Amino acid sequence: SNGSHVVVAIDGPSGTGKSSVSKAVARKLGVGFLDTGAMYRALTWWCLEQQIELTDADAVAAASRDLPLTMGTDPNHPDVFIDGRSIEVHIRESRISQSVSTVATNLDVRADMQQRQRELMAQVSEQTGGVVAEGRDITTVVAPDATVRILMTASEEARMARRSKQLSVTAESTRSQIVDRDRVDSTVSTFMTAADGVVTVDTSHLDFEQSVQAVLHVVSAEAGHE
Ligand code: DC
Repeated sequence: SNGSHVVVAIDGPSGTGKSSVSKAVARKLGVGFLDTGAMYRALTWWCLEQQIELTDADAVAAASRDLPLTMGTDPNHPDVFIDGRSIEVHIRESRISQSVSTVATNLDVRADMQQRQRELMAQVSEQTGGVVAEGRDITTVVAPDATVRILMTASEEARMARRSKQLSVTAESTRSQIVDRDRVDSTVSTFMTAADGVVTVDTSHLDFEQSVQAVLHVVSAEAGHE
């Protein structure tokens, strides 16, 4: 890896503001942005389109390997394309949120996606001088050698409040959906607690701008050690 590139890995559960904060940090640093959750969502959307049973692990893994997926990594217009068609709007639908964990806990799918993510991060980093990648296993599996590794957390209360605002649904249905999803997802990745060498940024009492500043502060402190 090139020491002059700033590679920022950010993990954490749903509702911490991880995605919007990561995007803003990438903009401030002038580097690319990779939303790895969007890749699992894209595969889920594709399997539903192709009427592939999500519980058919081998069929879903084969679909992953063949997936004609392109990620738009400009933090000003992050996008997801399958066969050149933007599916960004579709992958945010609740039918996808409700079934994506089945796909994301498929270990063959994870191996394929992790490989794609490493390649993408290297490419984007080469093009823009760095990358901010966010997900659940970026600090631990995809890019354990990243310049900066952050676990973004928030109290369950704060996470639920943010998510229900984002999705404009009732707090109670959001709570059970998100708690369930994090519980399932955390069976295959370590993102509820910080791994060794990973800096925790707790956003429970921070607004959006303060969260961005907190991450940028960690980035300059950690990147300064290089
Ligand atoms: O962050 P998100 O809600 O868009 O993530 C979608 C799903 O993919 C979620 O169930 C967690 C999972 N995921 C994962 O297992 N590993 C990642 N690196 C990113 C997301």
